[in-house]
Amino acid sequence: MTVLDFKKMKEEKKPISLITSYDSWSAAIIEESDIDCILVGDSLAMTMHGFDSTIPADTNLMAIHTAAVRKGAPQSFIIGDMPFLSFRKGLVPAMETVEKLMQAGANAVKLEGISGHEEIIKHIVQSGVPVMGHIGLTPQSVNQLGGYRVQGKEDLKAKKLIEDALGLEEAGCFSIVLECVPASIGKMISEKLSIPTIGIGAGNGCDGQVLVLQDMLGLNNKFKPKFVRTYMDGFNTLKKAFNEYDRDVKNKSFPLDKESYS
Ligand code: KIV
Repeated sequence: MTVLDFKKMKEEKKPISLITSYDSWSAAIIEESDIDCILVGDSLAMTMHGFDSTIPADTNLMAIHTAAVRKGAPQSFIIGDMPFLSFRKGLVPAMETVEKLMQAGANAVKLEGISGHEEIIKHIVQSGVPVMGHIGLTPQSVNQLGGYRVQGKEDLKAKKLIEDALGLEEAGCFSIVLECVPASIGKMISEKLSIPTIGIGAGNGCDGQVLVLQDMLGLNNKFKPKFVRTYMDGFNTLKKAFNEYDRDVKNKSFPLDKESYS
């Protein structure tokens, strides 16, 4: 997978599969799978570090996790998320973040929104770094959005989403994440753009889909939004394995002689 394949896959109507990863062991499994590419999302603040939003993620944390994913998946196309405010403090700090993520092993960066940072997006693209846009529910703006809720339901907001998507294409983005928008808007935007849309809670009309790894593996037993499909009961599967290990330690059936040195 290279950045060129994104547009090609859209033209050939081949859906693009994207998944988040934040560490080397899951990245290694993903690289062996059929999934097309990996996002080191700032959702890692929540999934890996237990925060209740993505806001605590900073550039150094994103770079550490991006480097870990690159070590596990040396051949994969990896997108690194630009964290909260990292592209809102001016061009130099924004480019320092881009530098850190790319030097940590990303092939592209993703950033949320467009209003007020169109020029920064253009500058990153002109610097030779592919940019993925992200509109709809933009979790870094959760405080302004008043919670994690579907975006673009009202006509005016839908119109703004379409304008933003076209603006991101115009600014040079190679792809756009559409998060939590009505399926009709996801389809309309996907049809209007020549670059692929990657949906998360944006319906089946998008050119690809992304899910958070912990969600799709059912590792989070407290939270399951409508748009998530779980492919295993990870929480209970792991809990069972932990309990079996605990049982074996306590009944002295682990370790056996063959698991011990002579
Ligand atoms: O941070 C993230 O994981 C994301 C996806 C939800 C698209 O931005």
